[in-house]
Parts: sequence; structure tokens; C-alpha cells
Amino acid sequence: MRLTQCHNFHDFRRLARRRLPGPIFDYIDGAADDETTHRRNSASFEHCDLLPNVLRGVQDVDLSVTIMGQKLALPFYCSPTALQRLFHHEGERAVAAAAASYGTMFGVSSLGTVSLEELRKAHDTPQVYQFYFHRDRGLNRAMMQRAKDAGVEVMMLTVDSITGGNRERDLRTGFSIPFRLTPAGMLQFAIKPMWGIQYVSHEKFRLPQLEEHVDMSGGAMSIGRYFTEMLDPAMNWDDVAEMVRTWNGPFCLKGIMSVEDARRAVDIGCAGIVLSNHGGRQLDGSRSAFDQLAEIVDAVGDRIDVMMDGGIQRGTHILKALSLGAKAVGLGRYYLYPLAAAGRPGVERALGLLRAELVRDMKLMGCTSISQLSRANLRFRPG
Ligand code: LAC
Repeated sequence: MRLTQCHNFHDFRRLARRRLPGPIFDYIDGAADDETTHRRNSASFEHCDLLPNVLRGVQDVDLSVTIMGQKLALPFYCSPTALQRLFHHEGERAVAAAAASYGTMFGVSSLGTVSLEELRKAHDTPQVYQFYFHRDRGLNRAMMQRAKDAGVEVMMLTVDSITGGNRERDLRTGFSIPFRLTPAGMLQFAIKPMWGIQYVSHEKFRLPQLEEHVDMSGGAMSIGRYFTEMLDPAMNWDDVAEMVRTWNGPFCLKGIMSVEDARRAVDIGCAGIVLSNHGGRQLDGSRSAFDQLAEIVDAVGDRIDVMMDGGIQRGTHILKALSLGAKAVGLGRYYLYPLAAAGRPGVERALGLLRAELVRDMKLMGCTSISQLSRANLRFRPG
């Protein structure tokens, strides 16, 4: 199977699975507990149908949106995700370059493997810095300052990871940073030697956002343990209000699900919220962002930019979210499998396919700009 044979999410996922050692594929592909929420994220888009209009003259379609003051050519962006150079040696460099070539926003994770400064210098498309609130307050202050000095536009604080989700696939394989695999996990690496050759023949694995502050030499840690031991479970609204003041620019909370929290985000001066269950990787059984979207948009949509992520695999999923009132949607696994499959050309192909789908779907809906999408375009099915 080659990249040119990848036409959708599932094709990229298959190619990624062939290329990646099992423990790494499972880290991306897996989720918490029984992975119910993860499955529901994509399934939730099937509960409603699109209702098209016709004969409207749809030669030129404009997909641009403005979120948190940032103009994007597309209503989707690459959400920040961790450890990208483990998936492909180009890692964040490939994702940032692909996002920039499509005029959209990308995120750099606290657990990113390329420095936020390098990426900010390389491209001028809007950049988000994904922040984990660590127990070490000095580290928190230093990270905010670094992102500010580098010229990062949007600060995005993840609020759904106050403790590690129970990712049983990782427990089975021993996936951790740095690697310390179970014997079965090691065998999985031995049968995918190409990945190993690429890994050792490129720049050493690093966590440049954290390395000055966090000593990783103390032994391997699962991501779940990292969250539980390193992040501050005492983080509360007062801490975040102070961060918003210090940042003094667009600030966004990722992982808001309730109306009460959405209102508080408005009160402390956030520019945006992302409805998210972290790709089903944290609280299994939690509601899908799409199912929760209307309730949040109705409560705060006129005062804050509401975005969502989770389960997006198709242009029509994006159309449905935008019709309900989301300002834009975030992609995670949608670009991670292409990254793993083929590096930058993979991510570019995936973003290009999604843009083409959206243009086609907008025309079939009788719409030429995102602002024409509304709930009048949707019908929900019972059950
Ligand atoms: C994860 C974190 C690191 O879901 O975002 O693995």
C-alpha cells in the first residue's frame, strides 16, 4: 500500500499500522478503559443528517474562518499532540509545514519533540502552544514566557488531564518515555526494523519544551504516570485566571464540556474553548464533543469562540459541527496516521483531501461560505 492509495482516514490508519511498531501505533490508536468514548466520538456525527439546498450558484467556495482573532484559510486545524517525532522522524516539522501550506493553525505540545521557537521561526501561520499545568510553578511561568517571547499567538491550556487516563493498551506494551518495553512490546519493534533505522539515524529524541526543567533520566514513565505525577491536581479557576492575565493575549481552554465551565471560561476572559474529551483518552464514558456542542453554543456562543475536537474523519463531520455553531474543529488522529505513514507528504495529502471534501460538500449543500451554515441545515434522528 502506497500513499497515493490513501483516500481517507481509514486508509492512512492502515498504512500507519504497517509502518509503526505495535506499541507506538497503539499509543496513537488507543484510548481509555473500554474506549467507548473514543468510538462514540466518530459515531456521534451519524445521529444527524445534512439537509442540502440547491440551485444557489456555488462556483466559488470560501472556507476561511476567524478564531480567537486568527484568520485561517480552513475551518479545521491541527490540534497539539505529543511525541510526534516518535511517529515519524520529521514529527512536528512535517505537521507545521503542512498546516502552513494550507494556511491553517497548528499546535505545539508541552510534550512536543521539536522546539516551539524553531517552529515559530519556520512558518508564519498561527501557532498554538499547548500547556500542561505542572506542579512546578517555576516551570509554568518559564514556559509561558518562552511561548510569549517566541511570538506564539494562542495559549491553549489542557484542562482534562489532571490525572492520567487508564490506557490499557499502553500498560500491555509498556509504552513510556523514554522507552521501556515489555518483552512482547520489544518483539513488536524487532518486526518493524525500518522504523528503528529511521529513528536511530535522525536527531536524538528530545522534549525541548521541558528538558530544562524536568529530569527524564530518572527512568521511563508512561504518559498516564507523567500526568499523575508531574501535573498539578490542585489547579483551579483562580490559577487559570492568573494565567489568562499573565498571557495577555488569546487564551483558550481545551477539554471544557459543561455549560457551567464554559461560563467560567468567559468570566475569566478566555477567547476560546475547545469541547474535547482528549480523543477518548482520559475519561471513558464522557460525552462526545459533538453531542454536547449545541448546549454550549447556546449558552456562550455569542461571547466566546467555541471549537470542538474528537472523531473528525470526514468533511461532512466538519460541516455538521460548523452548522451547530462551532467556529472551527481540531484534528488529532486524522493527521497523526498520515504523519506516521509518510511524514510531511502524508500530512499534506490528508489535509488536501479534507479540504477537497469540504469544498465538494459545501457545493452539494448549496453554500459558498462558512457563515451560511446553520442549524437549518441539520435534522437530528431519534435514538
Ligand atoms: C496523550 C497526551 C500526551 O493523550 O495528550 O497521550
